Amino acid sequence: MEKTFVMLKSDGLKRGLLGEVISRIEKKGYKVLGLKIQRLTKEQLDKHYYEHLERPYFPSLVEYVTSGPVVHMVIGGDNVISGIRKLNGATDPEKAEMGSIRGDLAINMTKNLIHASDSLENAEREIALYFSPDEIVE
Ligand code: PPS
Repeated sequence: MEKTFVMLKSDGLKRGLLGEVISRIEKKGYKVLGLKIQRLTKEQLDKHYYEHLERPYFPSLVEYVTSGPVVHMVIGGDNVISGIRKLNGATDPEKAEMGSIRGDLAINMTKNLIHASDSLENAEREIALYFSPDEIVE
């Protein structure tokens, strides 16, 4: 089964949206294979978002994601990597279609609520950053 990594960013838990987000993922037919709540450090985010370290928005991304606990998920299903990106909608919530998680629930480009891996390589890398193999069910 293909697997991807999903992070509900800090305002998701604060706003009580964990159940809503998991419900949308499960209703689509995907399986939750791993789940944990964690406070992230800047060092962890430097690794996670290494491709974006030099981008002007990186400090605000770090400030937002470290402002409270986040929820990490390993999600499985057929073509789940591209499927979850569609479910999430465009990175900028103003451009995300209504009906998508960001289109319906996210606030702005910084507070865009949810992250999902964009490739098989990044899915494997991001899952390994936060989960050991025995924390994932098959
Ligand atoms: S993507 O989804 O990777 O194609 O998006 P990209 O535009 O390359 O953005 C990479 C990540 O940086 C986040 N981002 C921002 N965060 C805070 N403020 C601003 N202005 C901003 N612009 C982009 C964006 O949400 C992507 O993070 P993830 O967690 O992958 O959504």
